[in-house]
Amino acid sequence: MKKIDDLGDLAGQRVLVRSDLNVPIKNDVIGDDGRIRASLPTLVKLSKAGAKVIVTAHLGRPKGTANPEFTLAPVAKRLGELLQPEGITVHFASDVTGDSAQSAVQELDEGEVLLLENVRYDPREESKDEAQRDQLADELAALADVFVSDGFGVVHRKQASVYDVARKLPHAAGGLVLAEVDVLKKLTEEPARPYVVVLGGAKVSDKLAVIDNLLAKADKLLIGGGMVFTFLKAQGHEVGKSLLEEDQLDIVRGYLKEAGDKIVLPTDIVVAPKFEADSPATVVAADAIPADQLGLDIGPDSAKAFAAEVAAAKTVFWNGPMGVFEMAAFAGGTKAVAQALTEVTGLSVVGGGDSAAAVRQLGFADDAFGHISTGGGASLEYLEGKELPGLAVLEED
Ligand code: 3PG
Repeated sequence: MKKIDDLGDLAGQRVLVRSDLNVPIKNDVIGDDGRIRASLPTLVKLSKAGAKVIVTAHLGRPKGTANPEFTLAPVAKRLGELLQPEGITVHFASDVTGDSAQSAVQELDEGEVLLLENVRYDPREESKDEAQRDQLADELAALADVFVSDGFGVVHRKQASVYDVARKLPHAAGGLVLAEVDVLKKLTEEPARPYVVVLGGAKVSDKLAVIDNLLAKADKLLIGGGMVFTFLKAQGHEVGKSLLEEDQLDIVRGYLKEAGDKIVLPTDIVVAPKFEADSPATVVAADAIPADQLGLDIGPDSAKAFAAEVAAAKTVFWNGPMGVFEMAAFAGGTKAVAQALTEVTGLSVVGGGDSAAAVRQLGFADDAFGHISTGGGASLEYLEGKELPGLAVLEED
């Protein structure tokens, strides 16, 4: 895989960069700007090399329409603020490859950055029809001389700005993609043991392939979050009004049988009558969840037990919150696991999306962890052992 340094002298060259700037935004306010910050080193490097830097990225899932709810304008503003100390000016084009993008590219000076509007406004970006994606990739490629792929969070997507455009221009992987792959390789190729994986989040069905793969690789699989109730039910316990995926019960039973004591489930659960921040919370045994309550976090005994497993590990990968961490009463499990990860002496990796947002929201500093991945789905698919199209294409000449 080529690096930016292999692309030769970039002074005056138009460099198209695919970044992942998909950050949570509410009422024009960015919740966690971690992904924007993670994109900076590559943009600064290219700008300092004298390139004209054109960034293409997505926000949310506007499904091929120019829905203003998903505009990247607030991201362009934040990017400008973050690059200002470097003396780098950021411009914003109000379309993807249209008049605004084309004239902004023409006016771009060496060292400046231009962010194009949400690439998913264009239905061709995510089209299953290769010819349609190809058309958009041609238009993107026409804006630039070379392509740098730095949006690790989207390399699992076979999309025009991730995959097809890389086939049309000389290309390289950006520093973020290289760093992420480097860490994930450490998790898949001879991880230092004990290797503990903590999985949470709402749905078992999202995590089936990774559980399947990790059962053979990890020493312990600690399960929390909404998906734990499908495991408890599969063990024959009642789960009250908790989240449950009935159609996954047989598969989960199979995992429990195969895993022996490798899968660790919580022994206590924080429950409440309603999914509300001020709903009265109580702690019950995991096998005694009342019929009129729902589980919203792992309990304090389980948090202690999970933290002890994590702290003793040499390699830890964590994806998915242990409970509804956005509500203080149900944040204890996630907090305990995050704290334990900061105490790991080996490699600790927080896997993307919600988990990254959770550790920041709970007040942990990024450098307290070995690595916070910018890719939720992408890091999981890498660990599943799948080929990621956005990485595979970078291996091509
Ligand atoms: C993410 O949020 O994981 C990435 O930005 C990819 O977004 P997507 O799941 O909408 O493709």
